[in-house]
Amino acid sequence: MIYAANFKTNHTRQSTKEYLSKLELQLFKKKPEDKIYIFPPLTALGNFNSRNITLGVQNAYPVEKGAYTGEVGMEQLAELRVKAILIGHSERRDILGESQELVARKFAFFKKQGFEIIYCIGESLEIREQGIDAVMEHLLSQFEGIDITYKNLIVAYEPIWAIGTGRSATVEEITQTHNALKKVVDVPLLYGGSVKGANIDEISAIKSVDGVLVGGASLKTETFLELVFH
Ligand code: PGA
Repeated sequence: MIYAANFKTNHTRQSTKEYLSKLELQLFKKKPEDKIYIFPPLTALGNFNSRNITLGVQNAYPVEKGAYTGEVGMEQLAELRVKAILIGHSERRDILGESQELVARKFAFFKKQGFEIIYCIGESLEIREQGIDAVMEHLLSQFEGIDITYKNLIVAYEPIWAIGTGRSATVEEITQTHNALKKVVDVPLLYGGSVKGANIDEISAIKSVDGVLVGGASLKTETFLELVFH
């Protein structure tokens, strides 16, 4: 299983350091095939090395360097030795206004850099209510311009209505959607959206779920470890 933690705009440099040290102490117990990714805020990167944890960025701009006020590019990421990135998260698409065209440009750029890419897709509640065909049509449209055969690709299916709401998708919804996605993409497939201690057993038991992308329940080491050691 893959366990990926997305801190979003939470934690400081200091609290991330404490979090990672605490996590690291427990991870000798993890199964060797399990993989842990942590995506802290950018300011918290660069002061931690671990064989058990892959650190990544939640966002970056698809450029080496240049005049892009407020963004970071490859020159800055290389210094932090970061080689993993989240691309296409619904908060970046919906709150920060990232178009599919920009998302695809980021994908192509970081693919060229050999990054591990966790590429996020997901539908709104309005689309979910129209049924699985509408859901799949929307999800597949989010693969536009994306090389889904990229060897360092992980896809995260995250229904927008399940993110941060406490209401995860049901086992049936996840199973049906993941099975349909597996026919299209032959890469590890994560589920994200209100994953927590109370539902990790049933979600991880789904055959087409290769891991989870976790926001809220990843913010404390205790709740994240509950998932890793469920
Ligand atoms: P959540 O967030 O676990 O808080 O629902 C998931 C995500 O946005 O990746």
